[in-house]
Amino acid sequence: MLKLVVLLGFLAAFCAAENKGIAIITTGVSGVSGSLTFTELSGGGVHIVGTIKGLTRGKHGFHIHSKGDLTDGCGSTGSHFNPYNKTHGAPDAEHRHVGDLGNIEAGANGIATVDITDKIICLTGETGILGRAVVVHSGEDDLGLQDTDESHTTGSAGSRVGCGIIGIL
Ligand code: CU
Ligand code: ZN
Repeated sequence: MLKLVVLLGFLAAFCAAENKGIAIITTGVSGVSGSLTFTELSGGGVHIVGTIKGLTRGKHGFHIHSKGDLTDGCGSTGSHFNPYNKTHGAPDAEHRHVGDLGNIEAGANGIATVDITDKIICLTGETGILGRAVVVHSGEDDLGLQDTDESHTTGSAGSRVGCGIIGIL
């Protein structure tokens, strides 16, 4: 436990607290679109703000995937960004992928307002997300709490309905 606290402090210190990123969310088929900005915080971590529309009502898994490759749409963005080889989990769980940002929630109008502060990701460095992809899923991320391989790797969040590459802003 002490080791984890020390490690997290170490990682947070790596955030430059000045970098900003932007991702424009698009897909070819599902009609999901949106825009997100990512701002590093002086105390460590990143503040993510934006709006995503065209979603079904309810919760949708929301992750950073490892590759900024849209050759085959969201399908070629790789798996959850996981530089420390952990299992999938909730954003506040001890064991999580660096890219595990939990869920966003859309209302009946299909719009999700995103306002998330995550303490693990940075824009650059070991946990840097610049150049990678942010992905929105068709279903809810179960946060790794079910006793299945799928839950422990992807959160069983379903297909990838929207994604965007995080670029320098
Ligand atoms: Cu994902
Ligand atoms: Zn994950």
